[in-house]
Amino acid sequence: MQQVTLETIVSLAKRRGFVFQSSEIYGGLNGCWDYGPLGVELLRNLKDAWWKSMTYRDDIEGIDAAILMHPRVWEASGHVANFTDPMIDNKVSKARYRADNLIEEHIAKLEKNGKHERARNLAARLSAAREPEDFYQIIIDEEIADPASGSRDWTPVRYFNLMFKTFIGSVEDANSVVYLRPETAQGIFVNFRNVLDSSRQKIPFGIAQIGKAFRNEINTKYFLFRTREFEQMEMQYFIKPGMHVEQFEYWREQRFQWFLELGMTTDVLRFKPHDKLAHYAAAAVDIEFKFPFGWGEIEGIHSRTDFDLSRHEEYSGKKLEFVDTGTKERFVPYVIETSIGASRSFMAFLCHAYTVEHVPDAEGDDAERTVLKFHPKLAPIKAAVLPLVKKDGMPEFAEKLYRDLQKSFNVQYDESAAIGRRYRRQDEIGTPFCITIDGESLSDGTVTVRERDSMQQIRLAADKVKEYILQRIL
Ligand code: GLY
Repeated sequence: MQQVTLETIVSLAKRRGFVFQSSEIYGGLNGCWDYGPLGVELLRNLKDAWWKSMTYRDDIEGIDAAILMHPRVWEASGHVANFTDPMIDNKVSKARYRADNLIEEHIAKLEKNGKHERARNLAARLSAAREPEDFYQIIIDEEIADPASGSRDWTPVRYFNLMFKTFIGSVEDANSVVYLRPETAQGIFVNFRNVLDSSRQKIPFGIAQIGKAFRNEINTKYFLFRTREFEQMEMQYFIKPGMHVEQFEYWREQRFQWFLELGMTTDVLRFKPHDKLAHYAAAAVDIEFKFPFGWGEIEGIHSRTDFDLSRHEEYSGKKLEFVDTGTKERFVPYVIETSIGASRSFMAFLCHAYTVEHVPDAEGDDAERTVLKFHPKLAPIKAAVLPLVKKDGMPEFAEKLYRDLQKSFNVQYDESAAIGRRYRRQDEIGTPFCITIDGESLSDGTVTVRERDSMQQIRLAADKVKEYILQRIL
């Protein structure tokens, strides 16, 4: 991957119709983004690649659960009590901060100034902090000032829940509160029995789901990296207790491999074990991508034990165990979860694809081109059909081929400029194949197929083009 700034990616994304700011004509809505014509294709291709690799196998079923769920779900899952951030407000600037982030920034400053031992002690104190007062006391003891105003006049620390609350039905009272789901995982847990009873699965087996999730993040940042509305692709693998170490290893390797198969490289991916575990996890590792702003999580693999199913048994009063018909053994399954952000990995694949390189132009002179080197499976447009000139029957030939290819995949037709310019336009949106119709096409029915990255051209019979492309994108 080449060094690229986030500004470059955001600007290309807008200019070429990948991502727009939400409600832009009203000044935007913080932490929300819209996918444009090319973005929606890239996102769908990404989700399709995940869906196929996770559910087109014997041991995993797919579901699509509702975003709104019974409010007791979030009590059972621990989100009402635990899905919180410690927040503090500055009385002068009125700015609100995550107390732990303020302290972390202070620790980084101490490190930078060579005060390593003080930084280490403070980091230990921070990781032991649980109660709001613990965070508050650190901020006071360390005389941490508001980065915006320099003021040290702080409110007490309070826990703030990240779930969006709304009301179901016409009455807005405590009995009608529902939440927008903060993770898709719970839709899977509450359907564990339904899937078990309606499919032919036995332990071990998994349930996968793709869907929107919502978190009222205080600090949204880095484009699609931390947003308030996002999409998750999650899979819960139900296993026999005792198998969790082995299965955790298996899934972390599988998931890492998936990114490599879609064109990522090991220099931009790494595993990062969790320092702090979420309330449901017994072990957890992140797959991180090297974004322009630094390393950031794109997928988490979590060993969730029987935490979720046991809690749902307790809160719902329904049995959520598995009975082995052979051994008659009964147990509440353990769970290994793979949880990938569709929006975050979209951004990772976009950054990784971005390349600027020098190549000879039509006259043989050095020219710069911007290319999005997407894996053909992910590319929003699979092929462009380009008549060399707008005459001699070439547009008609090209249009016929274009209409035929369009039945199978997303393809563009372009006859508008010099051929070199049309190639560059397609390079910039990551189209892997450009098909050119020239004089020879009319005499012998062949066309050229230019491959985006190598820029090599081959000649193929026009009626073989579809098969050629399908082989590379399926
Ligand atoms: N389901 C785990 C997560 O949302 O991170």
